Amino acid sequence: MTKLAKDFLWGGSIAAHQLEGAWQEGGKGPAIMDYATSGSADTPREYTKEIEEGRRYPSHEGIDFYHRYKEDIALFGEMGFKSLRISIDWSRIYPNGDDDEPNAAGIAFYQSVVDELLKHNIEPIITLYHFELPMNLVTKYDSWKNRQLIEFYLNFVETMVQALKGKVKYWVTFNEMNHIDPQTEASDMFTYILAGLKYSELEGNKKEVLAVIGYNMTLAGVKATRLIHQLDPASKVGCVFGITPTYPVNCDPVNVLNAFKEMDRDFYQIDAMCNGEFPEYKLKEYQDLKIEVGLTKEDKQDFAEGQLDFIGMNYYMTDVARYKGSEEEEGSLFGGVQNPFLEKSVWGWGVDPIGLRYLLNYTYRRYGLPIIICENGLGAVDKVGLDGIVHDDYRIDFLQKHLSELKKAVEEDKVDCFGYLMWGPIDLVSATTGEMKKRYGFIYVDKHDDGTGNLSRSRKDSFYWYKNLIETNGEDL
Ligand code: BG6
Repeated sequence: MTKLAKDFLWGGSIAAHQLEGAWQEGGKGPAIMDYATSGSADTPREYTKEIEEGRRYPSHEGIDFYHRYKEDIALFGEMGFKSLRISIDWSRIYPNGDDDEPNAAGIAFYQSVVDELLKHNIEPIITLYHFELPMNLVTKYDSWKNRQLIEFYLNFVETMVQALKGKVKYWVTFNEMNHIDPQTEASDMFTYILAGLKYSELEGNKKEVLAVIGYNMTLAGVKATRLIHQLDPASKVGCVFGITPTYPVNCDPVNVLNAFKEMDRDFYQIDAMCNGEFPEYKLKEYQDLKIEVGLTKEDKQDFAEGQLDFIGMNYYMTDVARYKGSEEEEGSLFGGVQNPFLEKSVWGWGVDPIGLRYLLNYTYRRYGLPIIICENGLGAVDKVGLDGIVHDDYRIDFLQKHLSELKKAVEEDKVDCFGYLMWGPIDLVSATTGEMKKRYGFIYVDKHDDGTGNLSRSRKDSFYWYKNLIETNGEDL
């Protein structure tokens, strides 16, 4: 029987702006998420133009990973992590994005983080863009609307590949660029976290702006893939997508087709990065909308030569497509309706382990490329018990059920999945709400939304559960 590979990459994923803190140290410049306030499940984060007195900006301190990474990596090592996906904050390397020379202190920091990982036999997986865009590239160049950003991004990518060559094998060009698409009703949140622009403030034809941003990022992705391959032929390059499989509300063919179309929208960039060309169907769709993304002959070459080695998937939940007459229903994060067959997390995210198996199958059958689950996990409210320990059986239950479906996808459906990286193995700031209260970790961090807490780290029950799971390579689920 097919089994999980012996070298299956068990581990976790983190992102710089959600945990490093030290936002003005080591020569770092301001980046878009440094202007994102804390919010809550009911109060959206705000994205302010200036740092406003009296507001809280959680990226400024994060969980102080910048100063504590050795301690944190040692804990991941203790759990037996085979891999950790980190992101490199562009604004630590090029504080303004367009600087002539990189910031040596920023490079040294990430070299040291990578060395520390290797010391613990943890394979680093490096994301080169996880919502960390230098603010100057927004204010001076209009963000990804401007093709010039591609050159700045490639310069940054080259700097990091040269700096980490020989130590890093797996590179990820972008995290979740698929949340920008002209056909979806976009929100301020997604356009901001990806491009530092608020949807409500976009000028001109908004659909066109989103199409151009999406196109420029996709092109940057394939150019970066080709560049990394050239700089280091031993490298494996992927891109990470955040996909929410969408179900029809019932078997009415109209609803089935509608659900298919909604889900399919998230795949055009994967098509572009895997199939050697920017999809013709998307260009025709743009033509109908009178949208011009500026595809050139050279771009075509880039798409042909910048194909991915693997696909990274972030999976949290599934959605049910809106249907005629569903306007009154309570909406989900991605605009669909709630699924009555599923339980919801405290933050309203439908818990659907089978959706993970569905997504793995869907993606593998479509592209035939190796897949790594780059994020999955449960955001929950943790309470420290009287014994000083978080007893998070609900998190263990969530992970157990999801991993059991992942195993079925590999063992029964023969999907080539080579790793599972749990999101937020140490408590960190939520990207969507800016809270600390929404915790994912195996490791508890004493830090609270009102700014209190001594930042100490402690092991939750799930810490020992995951450690044992890794030790048995997923057998003891
Ligand atoms: C993913 C992002 O979409 O969702 C992460 O890549 C994010 O950055 C994760 O943290 C979970 O979202 P949240 O809001 O619960 O942190």
